[in-house]
Amino acid sequence: MKKQLVFATNNQHKLEEVRHILQDKYEILSLKDIHCEEDIPETADTLEGNALLKAQYVKNNYGYDCFSDDTGLEVYVLNNAPGVYSARYAGDTKSSEDNMRKLLNELKDKKDRSARFRTVIALLEGDSSYLFEGIVEGEIIQEKRGTTGFGYDPIFVPDGYSETFSELGSDIKNKISHRAEAVKKLKNFLHEKI
Ligand code: IMP
Repeated sequence: MKKQLVFATNNQHKLEEVRHILQDKYEILSLKDIHCEEDIPETADTLEGNALLKAQYVKNNYGYDCFSDDTGLEVYVLNNAPGVYSARYAGDTKSSEDNMRKLLNELKDKKDRSARFRTVIALLEGDSSYLFEGIVEGEIIQEKRGTTGFGYDPIFVPDGYSETFSELGSDIKNKISHRAEAVKKLKNFLHEKI
């Protein structure tokens, strides 16, 4: 029988991606599947802290082994902002348009526009906890380009490419992204254990 593991998300896109990768050995349950409908606190000030908080919440309240992810865009010249606050950089409405506008404004006089996306996955299995990190380095361009993706995709060009994540599209992005790298590490870890 497949082992059950909760992915502490209701983001359908992330679920499908991860279910596809782990489907041979694991039944991946969403928050909805376990009837967890409340807002899980994300009050830590690091990606690692938030990922652990979410996983711990599920483990403590629902008893499942669990993993959760947290991602941020870290811009070096801005001391790694927006980082853990990427979703609500320009306010609680979590508008990607407003977030990008604010970031482009912050960078308008800056020469160094290098940045990275960083994903942290926290896994709680039995009594142990594990962290997996995925990073993609790149640069924030001057104005938006492309139509696919979400968040800061239209203004981020990964190293080795001249197109933004939005222009590259999901096939390429899902192969090279921060999240893909973190999930790959999680997968290797889980598969080695069986
Ligand atoms: P989350 O932890 O995956 O919910 O990501 C937090 C925020 O980071 C999102 O609301 C987006 O603004 C941004 N973000 C995360 N992943 C990506 C990505 O792959 N492309 C662009 N923006 C992203």
